[in-house]
Amino acid sequence: MNTSIQEIERIISGPIETRDDIITLLSERSEAGIEAIRRAAEATLLSCCGDTVYFRGLIEFSNICTMDCYYCGIRKSNQKPQRYCLEKEEILQACLWCAEQKYGSVVLQSGERTDELFVDFIVDCVSTIKKTTISPHLPNGLAITLCVGEQSEKSYQRFFAAGAHRYLLRIETTNQGLFTKIHPPQQSLESRRKCLNMLRSIGFQVGTGVMIGLPGQTIPMLADDILFFRDQDVDMIGMGPYIAHTDTPLGSDPSTRGWTRTDSLTTALLMIAGCRLVLRDVNIAATTALQAIDPQGRERGLRFGANVIMPQLTPGRYRNEYLLYEGKPCIDEDAQHCSGCIAARVNSVGRHIGVNTWGNSPHFQKRSGKNASADHPEPAC
Ligand code: 5AD
Repeated sequence: MNTSIQEIERIISGPIETRDDIITLLSERSEAGIEAIRRAAEATLLSCCGDTVYFRGLIEFSNICTMDCYYCGIRKSNQKPQRYCLEKEEILQACLWCAEQKYGSVVLQSGERTDELFVDFIVDCVSTIKKTTISPHLPNGLAITLCVGEQSEKSYQRFFAAGAHRYLLRIETTNQGLFTKIHPPQQSLESRRKCLNMLRSIGFQVGTGVMIGLPGQTIPMLADDILFFRDQDVDMIGMGPYIAHTDTPLGSDPSTRGWTRTDSLTTALLMIAGCRLVLRDVNIAATTALQAIDPQGRERGLRFGANVIMPQLTPGRYRNEYLLYEGKPCIDEDAQHCSGCIAARVNSVGRHIGVNTWGNSPHFQKRSGKNASADHPEPAC
């Protein structure tokens, strides 16, 4: 849909509060309209968060999963991936490398397991990483983000007490009907919401997000997702295009492979811009899935308002087994190469990389009443 440029200008010039206005932005398809939205999002980012891009070293430490999401390549029923779990020592080495590169922050991501052995393992890894990475440059050690799915309140509390202070749990979609279509019956939207609320009450910086271009998903549903992020008062957002994986129920049926890649990518970029314009001072990731569709996908994400990038630190030999979707980039690269390549991408869009800093979102700084860090001198939002 092409709305008049005057209408686009009206929407992006004021606080965006209505669902209809968000729908208009996400539906825009004219080059001039999209560019106006992009520019507004970039300007909001620069005034609310500054021009720093934060790196989070991503360690996909296990692909063992007890869940069977219909879209995901590492779902329990997929027999193809060779299942692995990194040794604590391997995780630690990756974290030390990350600290040496001055990233300041890591993300530990895995398939979902709630057994005690697994929870104990995470607690042990987190507390060791904390202790081991304290240095004059990082007096509080690396910032640790966990992305290990739905867990009990007690487990979340233990993770937090061990020193993980950020948690990513994507809601995937806030539409009840769509959530039910893409998940097996034992998973529920309600339980995801509860987990997000628990994480927030425990004190985590909370991140969530959705996939874009799912079969049956519509633009109004995505507008509702943005309103959910706003009402949930999240600190971080990670979203990306849905990319079909042939060895999954959705990906193996031509009628449920989702939107065209072009449309998913355009909408994913508009979602980044939309979140930036509505939520303003949160951290937003330019995710790897953007790059799976377009080689310039992550740079484009940065230019549409994202300010976080997650370079791969998963040891090379495991990467091929962590294919959530087809065409995942960087699976042959080593961490060193990945880091250099991403630094070049950040510089190519005229931004600079935050070093030796946790890079909390100004949103979190404000809501936690902590003084803005040196990275965020007096955010204007
Ligand atoms: N395409 C895009 N993203 C996917 N994820 C899982 N499977 C896919 C897919 N086929 C995303 C989910 C999950 C995150 C770790 O990866 O949103 O929360």
